[in-house]
Amino acid sequence: MLKTLEKPAKTSLKIRNQTIYPNVFPAPMSGVSDRNFRRLCKQLAQGRIGYLVTEFVSVESGLGLNPNKRPQLKFFDDEHPICIQIFGRNPSNMAQGALEAEQLGADFVEINCGCPVPKVAGKGGGAGLLKEIPKIAQIIREIKKTLSVPLFMKVRLGWCDKSINVFETLNIAESEGVELFTVHGRTRMQGYNGLADWDIIGEVKSRAKIPIIGNGDVASVEMAIERINTYGVDGICVGRAAMHNPWIFSQIADHWEEMPIKKPDLMELESMLNIYASLLKQDNMADSRILGRLKQMTARFVKCMVGADEFRKNLLRSVTTEDFFRELQIFFAINALSADELFRPERLLNLNGTDELDISYQNEY
Ligand SMILES: Cc1cc2nc3c(=O)[nH]c(=O)nc-3n(C[C@H](O)[C@H](O)[C@H](O)COP(=O)(O)O)c2cc1C
Repeated sequence: MLKTLEKPAKTSLKIRNQTIYPNVFPAPMSGVSDRNFRRLCKQLAQGRIGYLVTEFVSVESGLGLNPNKRPQLKFFDDEHPICIQIFGRNPSNMAQGALEAEQLGADFVEINCGCPVPKVAGKGGGAGLLKEIPKIAQIIREIKKTLSVPLFMKVRLGWCDKSINVFETLNIAESEGVELFTVHGRTRMQGYNGLADWDIIGEVKSRAKIPIIGNGDVASVEMAIERINTYGVDGICVGRAAMHNPWIFSQIADHWEEMPIKKPDLMELESMLNIYASLLKQDNMADSRILGRLKQMTARFVKCMVGADEFRKNLLRSVTTEDFFRELQIFFAINALSADELFRPERLLNLNGTDELDISYQNEY
């Protein structure tokens, strides 16, 4: 159990007449937060996740938003409320994409103005739009002609530290009818280096009329409370930390509900992997792919464990899911480590581009 903590000043937010509770949820992560990962986080939190967001999807690929051709667009009924995130730069394609997202059942649609990778930002989509603010207004206006569900935006602070224009982006978003604005507190040029600038996020919140979701480097319940209480944001989205600690949303919801926060132990770990395996099975994944996903997941969070190198190697060598779970059992039988010794989320706090845990994200998104 963690120590007694302060209470958050806000635990929910409202979009139109819908209450979003709790106000902390998974950030979209292409290649990571697919439907099975999202459902895992939601199941571990016993359904207590404000809303979910799909991985971003291009509206300019010529494929349309056909879920049979775009697996990123498939989601399950229990994922509602769900937001489909789209990217591109052509206003009529963006409007068409937003409409198709709504027709697929999205509760919200979000414009991505934050992706830094050259193949997106270099073509004027994602963070590339931050260099072309009038284009953002055109895109929103075009989308709003046909979209009935709420439109959201997720942005970075600006292209580089000489061109911080998040306040202008906010003004445009508000005046054109965007209903929620998520700010990742880094510039495009920063990638994942340095720390997110929460002072700027706080300044955005103090000027905003619409809900502001702060994003960047939040890795624990303590940090979520501190960010909400210090910077006044309406909510927080958590990205990389959830890859290593998918229980974080459950821990947050428990604390919001004045219940003790549980630190995951070996039993929780095994149970989480079993839940994940059954979600992957429900999604009709072949056994060999399920094993790959289990290894990928284990490799991520075992990084937070002390003294688990041999365990990790043996798990990665397993050739069937049965072998994989057998290795888990062997590890459990010979290790009587407590949750404190095993799982050290404080190792995640330095998510700033210099920490060993962070290097692997540099080229992914
Ligand atoms: C592997 C990876 C993929 C990402 N994909 C997306 C995406 O599809 N859409 C998006 O808006 N942000 C994406 N992001 C950015 C995250 O949503 C988030 O803004 C960023 O990781 C900072 O939050 P964190 O410090 O909690 O990780 C991605 C980040 C990572 C590491």
